[in-house]
Amino acid sequence: MSSTRKRLYIKTYGCQMNVYDSERMKDVLTPLGYETSDEAEGSDLVIINTCHIREKAAEKLYSDLGRLRPFKDAKAESGGMTIAVAGCVAQAEGPEIMRRAPTVDLVVGPQSYHKLPELIARAHRARGEALDTEFEVEDKFDLLPAERHVEGYSAFVTVQEGCDKFCTFCVVPYTRGAEWSRPVDQLVNEIRRLAAKGVREITLLGQNVNAYHGAPPAGREADGPWGLGQLLRHIALIGGIERVRYLTSHPRDMDEDLIAAHRDETKIMPYLHLPIQSGSDRILKAMNRQHTYAEYAELIARMREVRPDIAISGDFIVGFPGETDADFEDTMKCVREIGYASAFSFKYSRRPGTPGAAMPNQIDETVKTERLHALQALLDEQQTGFNRSQIGRTLPVLFEKAGRIAGQLHGRSPYLQSVHVDGPAELIGRIGMVRIEDASRNSLSGQLVGAEQDVA
Ligand code: 5AD
Ligand code: SF4
Repeated sequence: MSSTRKRLYIKTYGCQMNVYDSERMKDVLTPLGYETSDEAEGSDLVIINTCHIREKAAEKLYSDLGRLRPFKDAKAESGGMTIAVAGCVAQAEGPEIMRRAPTVDLVVGPQSYHKLPELIARAHRARGEALDTEFEVEDKFDLLPAERHVEGYSAFVTVQEGCDKFCTFCVVPYTRGAEWSRPVDQLVNEIRRLAAKGVREITLLGQNVNAYHGAPPAGREADGPWGLGQLLRHIALIGGIERVRYLTSHPRDMDEDLIAAHRDETKIMPYLHLPIQSGSDRILKAMNRQHTYAEYAELIARMREVRPDIAISGDFIVGFPGETDADFEDTMKCVREIGYASAFSFKYSRRPGTPGAAMPNQIDETVKTERLHALQALLDEQQTGFNRSQIGRTLPVLFEKAGRIAGQLHGRSPYLQSVHVDGPAELIGRIGMVRIEDASRNSLSGQLVGAEQDVA
């Protein structure tokens, strides 16, 4: 351990799990004297936490590394700058990165973040030794520090990593490996500590979170692995936790118990991110999604039956190999029929090593762009419509921070909408009731009508 303060800059690409991982890397490095900095220039350690899921991941990394070069040279005289590449590109292309980019001192895959201090020490001894893209995951969370630095009142917790689904467009099964789940007790410990620090809302993360099957708590071994429904109910019992969410789910893993949990447990927010990717059965089959549009629509209908106020969000890919105008029209029809509160949509990106990359009939970029624009126009319209449908309702809002304008508060509705309202700073970290008076595509505003729950 060192008593001198060192500066750490982390650049994070990609999904919420990478955001969580970056936080955990900070937690690992804090005891070594690292403090986070807002800029790379002058930092002692720079970590680029990469994402491999779409477009030009490697190109982005190499251009970032090019930009860091002069900073590294300038720092050579004053202690030097260590550059680390983390995340899914590191996992997929570790040795290649070490070969191509001499500025990189170490490469660390997502399952090895607890070993960062050792890797940094090794890199300082000899650059070639500091590459760790092992896949063993069983001990990572045991070895990461139990203490987490938290800002704000909403926190992410990884409960599951990896994926066994092998959708033909996706690199996740290759970069994050097979599905595995953290034990319930370990999660409860982490969440209790977060609650003690003021956290009120927990979002459980996993590449395929509803495939969660973690070891049951002590004393409940006879249950066998717990599913996500059981886990959510259990977490809802932790004192101080008022809201629970989870991301991202696969339609095939929405089991009866999880559906029932949405009916019974009001702390589970009425908001479900359930990607379908395409509305065409032909394309769903080519994507190896293992369900049809009708099955998905039926599932959404069930969710709405048990929780009538639930809002649905999703992910879509346009221009998967072989997608015809008729297939794309099926996706538009799906969006019209389901009705989305919000959604992410992407142009298909050919990922080396995935079956989709080798398929014939790759779609022209211009066609992908046209389809994406049409789809996004429809999704934007639905998002605005959904937000406007809240006008006149009174919603519980978890206030996260002061707004940009003095006297204003910023918070989130159950549907993750940004809400702005005039109110006292004492409400920050608490849930207040807001009568919604106005809405746009990206936010809501209204009047505070009371603090519903005094959870402090
Ligand atoms: N091309 C485009 N989008 C992709 N996604 C995953 N892989 C690809 C790809 N090769 C999208 C999916 C997924 C989200 C996280 O990213 O929609 O749900
Ligand atoms: Fe990728 Fe999700 Fe499909 Fe798994 S279920 S392969 S993470 S898109």
